[in-house]
Amino acid sequence: MAERIVSLIDADTIAARVRELGKQIAEDYKGRNLVLVCVLKGSFVFTADLARAIESSTMRIEFLGVRSYGEGTSTSGVVQITQDLSRPIEGEDILIVEDIIDTGLTIAHLLDLFRTRKPASIKVCALLHKPARTRIEVPIDYLGFTIEDRFVIGYGLDWGEKYRNLESISVVESQ
Ligand code: IMP
Repeated sequence: MAERIVSLIDADTIAARVRELGKQIAEDYKGRNLVLVCVLKGSFVFTADLARAIESSTMRIEFLGVRSYGEGTSTSGVVQITQDLSRPIEGEDILIVEDIIDTGLTIAHLLDLFRTRKPASIKVCALLHKPARTRIEVPIDYLGFTIEDRFVIGYGLDWGEKYRNLESISVVESQ
């Protein structure tokens, strides 16, 4: 069966929302030690755009490698850290940047992990949320878009490691 890629949220809509989030975050973190934690790989595109939308001369950016999905589209429930932060985060204001919160298992695990490192504060910024699939409730402090229960690709999100480079957030439809 042939597959067709259909845009769900286009590049302009994403860019406008990311600018709004960046403005809000810059205001909220004025005068504080903000560290953006980009959760790899899925949020690399979102973090790159969000970071540039946050006006700050002191913000740091860190990268955390996480694997919670196999090659398919369903969660394994197992969260594996594949690359840790480069520096301690004690006393800093941590903002975890996630591509999508699906079951919530990954972000719940990361919050538990980071709390043990004694940051001054810890918050979550997610581009997408799929509330229909929630298994653990986690507070999302900054959210781009709420979406229905469909597997999405593009803007950093993959399907078997492919499609991360699509400009818009899209779905695959069978024809
Ligand atoms: P959770 O632990 O179920 O909340 O899943 C979090 C991770 O699963 C995300 O950071 C994504 O990498 C991946 N994921 C969840 N839903 C999707 C999707 O619709 N498309 C691509 N990746 C997804």
